[in-house]
Amino acid sequence: MGSRVFSISLATILTTAWAAPAETAERFGYANILQRGTQVRDAYDYIIAGAGTAGLTLADRLTADGKYSVLVIEYCYPSSNGRNFLDPGISYNISSIPQVDMNNREQQVRIGCCVGGSSAINGMVFVRGTKPEYDGWAELGGTKSTWDWNGVLPYFKKASHFNPPDEVLAKNFNITWDPEVWGQDPDTHIYASYPNYEEPVMIPFYNAAAKMPKMPIPKDGAGGKSGLFWFPTSMDNQKYWRSYSRTGHYDNIKRDNYDVITMHKVKKILFDGTTATGVQFSPRDTNQTLTARARKEVIISAGTVHTPQILQNSGIGPKDLLTQAKIPILIELPGVGQNFQDHAYLAVNYQWGNGSGPIGPNITQTGNPSSIAGPNLGAWIGLPTMTDDFEKIASRYEAQDPAQYLPKNTHPTVIAGYKAFQKLHAKLLRSTNSNWLWLPIFGQPGGIVMSMHVVSHGTINIDPANPDAEPIVDYRALSNPIDLDIMVENIRYMRKFMNSSAFAASRPTETGPGINVEGNELKEWIKSVLIPTNFHPIATAAKKPKEMGGVVDEELRVHGTKGLRIVDGSIMPTLPGANTQQSVYMIAEKVSLLTC
Ligand SMILES: Cc1cc2nc3c(=O)[nH]c(=O)nc-3n(C[C@H](O)[C@H](O)[C@H](O)COP(=O)(O)OP(=O)(O)OC[C@H]3O[C@@H](n4cnc5c(N)ncnc54)[C@H](O)[C@@H]3O)c2cc1C
Ligand SMILES: *[C@@H]1O[C@H](CO)[C@@H](O)[C@H](O)[C@H]1NC(C)=O
Ligand SMILES: *[C@@H]1O[C@H](CO)[C@@H](O)[C@H](O)[C@H]1NC(C)=O
Ligand SMILES: *[C@@H]1O[C@H](CO)[C@@H](O)[C@H](O)[C@H]1NC(C)=O
Ligand SMILES: *[C@@H]1O[C@H](CO)[C@@H](O)[C@H](O)[C@H]1NC(C)=O
Ligand SMILES: *[C@@H]1O[C@H](CO)[C@@H](O)[C@H](O)[C@H]1NC(C)=O
Ligand SMILES: *[C@@H]1O[C@H](CO)[C@@H](O)[C@H](O)[C@H]1NC(C)=O
Repeated sequence: MGSRVFSISLATILTTAWAAPAETAERFGYANILQRGTQVRDAYDYIIAGAGTAGLTLADRLTADGKYSVLVIEYCYPSSNGRNFLDPGISYNISSIPQVDMNNREQQVRIGCCVGGSSAINGMVFVRGTKPEYDGWAELGGTKSTWDWNGVLPYFKKASHFNPPDEVLAKNFNITWDPEVWGQDPDTHIYASYPNYEEPVMIPFYNAAAKMPKMPIPKDGAGGKSGLFWFPTSMDNQKYWRSYSRTGHYDNIKRDNYDVITMHKVKKILFDGTTATGVQFSPRDTNQTLTARARKEVIISAGTVHTPQILQNSGIGPKDLLTQAKIPILIELPGVGQNFQDHAYLAVNYQWGNGSGPIGPNITQTGNPSSIAGPNLGAWIGLPTMTDDFEKIASRYEAQDPAQYLPKNTHPTVIAGYKAFQKLHAKLLRSTNSNWLWLPIFGQPGGIVMSMHVVSHGTINIDPANPDAEPIVDYRALSNPIDLDIMVENIRYMRKFMNSSAFAASRPTETGPGINVEGNELKEWIKSVLIPTNFHPIATAAKKPKEMGGVVDEELRVHGTKGLRIVDGSIMPTLPGANTQQSVYMIAEKVSLLTC
């Protein structure tokens, strides 16, 4: 069995999850779906750009009591239920610019293009970051911030309905959970559930991981703690079906005050002075101009890739960029499109040298219930848990000049924000309770190691020559050499794990890069294979003070405007040490209370 085949199946499962059966007899009701711009009413209380993960969550909450009217404008279409999630027709087709520190390789920028947005195509891993990571969001936000762990936990609980695992399964596989950190709100239909089956081979893998030196084993990773734990997925355990913003916040909702128009693109925000009054939008792939008025607020939920584009095209962004694109400047906001971060990963390939090692699950796209987001087990750990060299790395990072690895001509406020980021991350590098490595455990030798924090910052800006085209995505992956140092430690950790006595008889053999590849040679190998995204883009409209390169304030209002909020992944100032969907739902829930 080629380890190549194996690593492809791992990557597939992490990034695309399963394909649904082709059709279902079920018939859903929907919000009022408008086909043509002319059906859109002249005015609504709220207009939301983007029917994605955050946009649909917010629209559901804002329309629930009937007091407010809401229009959601979505660029893509409602894919027929049961459509194959791997179908390129429900993803955007965007590539990054060549990455200089990745041997000029480009990266596909995968984001969902359908009602439901990225929650319709994601890997369904349903996790949260740790307490110090959200406390960091508050630290970067300023003294009055309410986005620390205690301030976000109630909205994490509100955002999903938790279904505990089957008791026998839990007992056999050491699955533990803490009901205190989960919610079971009857009005919440995003489900967090476990599969009803796990492969027995997971047991020796669990036991080997539990024996790793200093490995913490929290009762529940969702309680803000690092370590080895089983996690649920965003799955409806009754229907055994993907649970996402469309099934949770759109299907079966029919309210006179809730309109959704698909196949239309929000081009820019309309203003009276600096107060947002509505949006300009167009039928997809036309230049026909339509407008709709917002009595209370415009909310941009277009996702991390497109939210900065709408802002920049509305005259809110870095001055030089807008000047170059000949867009009149409404508000100079240097942080729009900057601070871009994403998780980065690669696969360390192994085979059992003694062909009779523990046999892992036969992960297939359909059928096998454990194939839904894989076997739900991982180690999410801090640098001090991985290596005694953590202090050296933290000190080296701390000693950097904050501007050293940022793009030339970075605005002083963005540099000031990076300096605060650097201070926070030097602290997180020394914490045993911050997830720097995610080691997904699949019951197979070797596999993926993922950097859950990156210190290289990228950009997502409009193309000044064609501001309406897809934006220019630059991960600037590995531009800060600390990210290379950390990936080296990730690989070494995988080597230590595969060296566990439990696997000795199977003689694990590293086939790529090879156990003797170390030092600079290992770094060169990383550059040649790194994938700079797990499709978790964030921070292009970061929640930070304006003087720190931020775009939105603590209530997610765009600095310097009235009546304009951003509610999606782009407001996260730093990566949680976790896949991002649960944090996006939490953000939308928290803000839905601020808007009314
Ligand atoms: C392949 C993949 C795998 C992933 N795996 C996981 C995982 O296993 N676990 C996890 O926690 N997270 C995962 N994620 C990440 C998670 O799904 C995202 O962080 C989250 O869904 C983002 O939500 P959002 O609301 O910010 O944006 P989205 O959900 O992407 O919504 C943005 C919406 O805005 C629309 N839009 C954009 N521009 C315009 C415009 N100009 N006018 C109108 N509409 C517009 C888009 O079409 C889209 O519907 C994955 C993501 C992907 C893509
Ligand atoms: C994606 O875009 C590339 C380059 O523009 C093009 O060659 C390719 O055919 C597109 N793929 C799909 C599935 O549309
Ligand atoms: C897992 O559960 C078994 C059975 O309850 C128990 O013996 C074992 O110690 C547990 N392992 C760990 C690492 O907790
Ligand atoms: C829209 O306008 C732009 C700029 O004038 C032009 O390049 C483009 O071809 C037009 N698109 C359509 C579909 O008419
Ligand atoms: C895995 O399962 C699929 C579908 O049941 C089957 O076609 C395939 O042969 C299996 N692969 C192995 C290696 O057993
Ligand atoms: C594997 O374990 C052996 C014995 O404990 C040790 O000598 C060796 O250095 C270890 N190798 C790695 C890569 O950790
Ligand atoms: C191969 O693995 C099996 C099962 O773990 C073990 O019984 C056997 O002794 C191993 N053989 C060698 C040569 O290591």
